[in-house]
Amino acid sequence: MIRIGERIVDLFQLQPGTPVTARGWVKTFRNSKETGFIQLTDGSCFKDLQVVVDGGVPANIGTGACVSIRGELVESPGAGQSVELRADEIELVGASDTTTYPMQKKGHSLEFLREKAHLRVRTNTFGSVFRVRNAVSWAIHKFFQERGFINVHSPLITTSDCEGAGAMFGVTTLDMQNLPRTEDKSVDFSQDFFGKPAHLTVSGQLEAEIFATAFSNVYTFGPTFRAENSNTPRHLAEFWMVEPEMAFCDLDGDRALAEEFLRYVIKHVLDNCGQDLEFFNQRIDNTVIETLEHVANSAFEHVTYTEAVKLLEAANRSWEFPVQWGVDLQSEHERYLTEDVFKKPVVVTDYPKEIKAFYMRMNEDNKTVRAMDVLVPRIGEIIGGSQREERHDVLVDRITSSGLPLEPYWWYLELRKYGTVPHAGFGLGLERLVMYVTGMKNIRDVIPFPRTPGNADF
Ligand code: 4AD
Ligand code: MG
Repeated sequence: MIRIGERIVDLFQLQPGTPVTARGWVKTFRNSKETGFIQLTDGSCFKDLQVVVDGGVPANIGTGACVSIRGELVESPGAGQSVELRADEIELVGASDTTTYPMQKKGHSLEFLREKAHLRVRTNTFGSVFRVRNAVSWAIHKFFQERGFINVHSPLITTSDCEGAGAMFGVTTLDMQNLPRTEDKSVDFSQDFFGKPAHLTVSGQLEAEIFATAFSNVYTFGPTFRAENSNTPRHLAEFWMVEPEMAFCDLDGDRALAEEFLRYVIKHVLDNCGQDLEFFNQRIDNTVIETLEHVANSAFEHVTYTEAVKLLEAANRSWEFPVQWGVDLQSEHERYLTEDVFKKPVVVTDYPKEIKAFYMRMNEDNKTVRAMDVLVPRIGEIIGGSQREERHDVLVDRITSSGLPLEPYWWYLELRKYGTVPHAGFGLGLERLVMYVTGMKNIRDVIPFPRTPGNADF
């Protein structure tokens, strides 16, 4: 195991003259006259360690090989690096078949690298992506833990449909070739593993609400699944969602927390991922650092859905999806609001009840609900949340009028019978946030192993 103090990131902190052993993978190498140069990475930081080998790089060491190199740190003449390693002894730990190793020096398209998800993690781009993703995850836990939120592990297999939208993957042990049938010829789920239809969760929210009525402030953070056939750069079939849920909280409190939360995570990344962000700024999107610094230091804009629709109607644009009060906002509308009108994150609240989930709290007007979406430039929706309907009878009405059966929600309704409380929460899509902070344009490139229609390899 490489311990703290022995990683390449740690070696860069040491003085010239220190004897060290560096271990990792050969990213590239070259020979120039009698001297060889190896770029060595162990993933601990963006910068590779340059290793200088007198007499040239041994013939058995190629790109992709795993090596352990003993030597002495020396001052580096190269710009931007403090020290390099003068090799005394090179041990080949794992050879690499360089005739077939797919990661070549010339660089590859992100599409090509998606097919090589087992090796793309060794490249500069994916090294940076996954170090930033790690920093974002850590900052998320840190933010909620510092505020006394309890982390809840909500189930991945469930028999309730949180969003009431039906975009769920089934979980079954029934024999697909030989399904048991009831008398009326429908599938007999009583013979299935869970005794009824079960699926992968679309959200941990309903279970988080249970915990919020016992622990007050809670959050879930885990994988969620959507069987929508959306082949877009912003949709995954499996993605990670963070869902805080707060008792004694209304939509204003929810919105304030979402804003504080996003700013905190962005600041953490700015403070801790300097070299990786520098890389994204140079190679992926040259506005990324400026954007993050701006967001970390400015208040978000707030409009109601009704005001947003007025702005969109007044825009001199031909929309692919025409706008009028009552329609759901599409990505083109969301991006227009954040990129053209406000040029910063925007929180849109109070959507028509017809286009939002059954659990959102009804407004006095009986037409809109206490929903909020946080929209950011380039991405569109990054957070969706709401104040929840805490009134038992109103909730029964909403479930029924949404065309959903009451029975599966029996326990959700009981929360409104035993000590109900105004409460609110939101869900942040982790990958959308990682796209935002890195400037990466396709959601498939910010999750280790993307699951999309037609693809669940690795
Ligand atoms: O807006 P959504 O569907 O909200 C919920 O699931 C609520 N239960 C959250 C809550 O109030 N506790 O999803 C929340 C966020 C979206 O804003 C988006 O960032 C992300 O999850 N998201 C997706 N990310 C990637 N691929 C998908 N298919 C996504 N669907 C939603
Ligand atoms: Mg949403």
